Amino acid sequence: MSTQGRVALITGSGRGIGEVVAKKFAENGSKVVIIDVNPESIDRVVKEIRANGGEALGIDADITQKAQVEDMFKKTVDHFGRIDILVNNAGIAKDKSILKLTEEDWDSVINVNLKGTFLCCQSAVAYMREQKYGRIVNISSRAWLGWPGQANYSASKGGVVSLTRTLALELAKHRITVNCIAPGIIQTPLFDSLPENAKESLLKVQPTGTIGDPADIAYGVLFFASEDSGYVTGQVIFICGGKSIYSSLSV
Ligand SMILES: NC(=O)c1ccc[n+]([C@@H]2O[C@H](COP(=O)([O-])OP(=O)(O)OC[C@H]3O[C@@H](n4cnc5c(N)ncnc54)[C@H](O)[C@@H]3O)[C@@H](O)[C@H]2O)c1
Repeated sequence: MSTQGRVALITGSGRGIGEVVAKKFAENGSKVVIIDVNPESIDRVVKEIRANGGEALGIDADITQKAQVEDMFKKTVDHFGRIDILVNNAGIAKDKSILKLTEEDWDSVINVNLKGTFLCCQSAVAYMREQKYGRIVNISSRAWLGWPGQANYSASKGGVVSLTRTLALELAKHRITVNCIAPGIIQTPLFDSLPENAKESLLKVQPTGTIGDPADIAYGVLFFASEDSGYVTGQVIFICGGKSIYSSLSV
């Protein structure tokens, strides 16, 4: 599975899944662009990749802001000459049951997870169409199938799946593939921030009885991003230890 020499931009790569995805790309000889809203974490990840002999550029950008998104792709192309791979990984969660969910909880989660993914796809495609080559990998969640207390998050991640399938059809003739990964519970700061009782109830319905590692997601991303997967588009891979098989209300 080759991504050697390709330029890969990964949103939300200052920590968690995005950081590990970026490091796996760098290990595979790709040039990586680290995007986050946290400048300290960008600096740390860029330094670590460079210390391991990789090529990395860090850009502080908020994916909900169209001007910042356009600017980050311009900087990427000015620096590396092209953009081959976009991984829409940045995401947030604000879990509450429906009557407790505020309008702000709804808007902020939809803005980062869905609108941010749309803005990044739109900006990247302008370059990828010119190149007649592109790989877009969107990070959804197993929760897009539904989960109590996650109306805003599930809706945003379901939107990501629909966006993936539609863009796959629109862009296939331009040699741009668009695919999606739906992770289950993965050991990251986002998972660590959940209340203990929420973590316990999630593990109770986990077929493997274990939490996934960010590297489990990175290998799926590398498959979709590879030059060899050009005939795969509009697909969703669940990387969730089998949890997608259950009815979502079995807790
Ligand atoms: N960890 C899990 O169990 C899990 C499960 C399913 C899906 N996911 C999805 O995987 C992705 C990564 O999750 P994670 O657990 O690594 O999260 P995380 O919170 O550990 O990391 C997310 C990163 O995104 C950055 N970010 C947030 N808003 C941003 C914005 N507007 N612009 C740019 N960067 C922004 C954050 O600063 C952070 O560095 C998310 O889309 C998440 O919904 C995670």
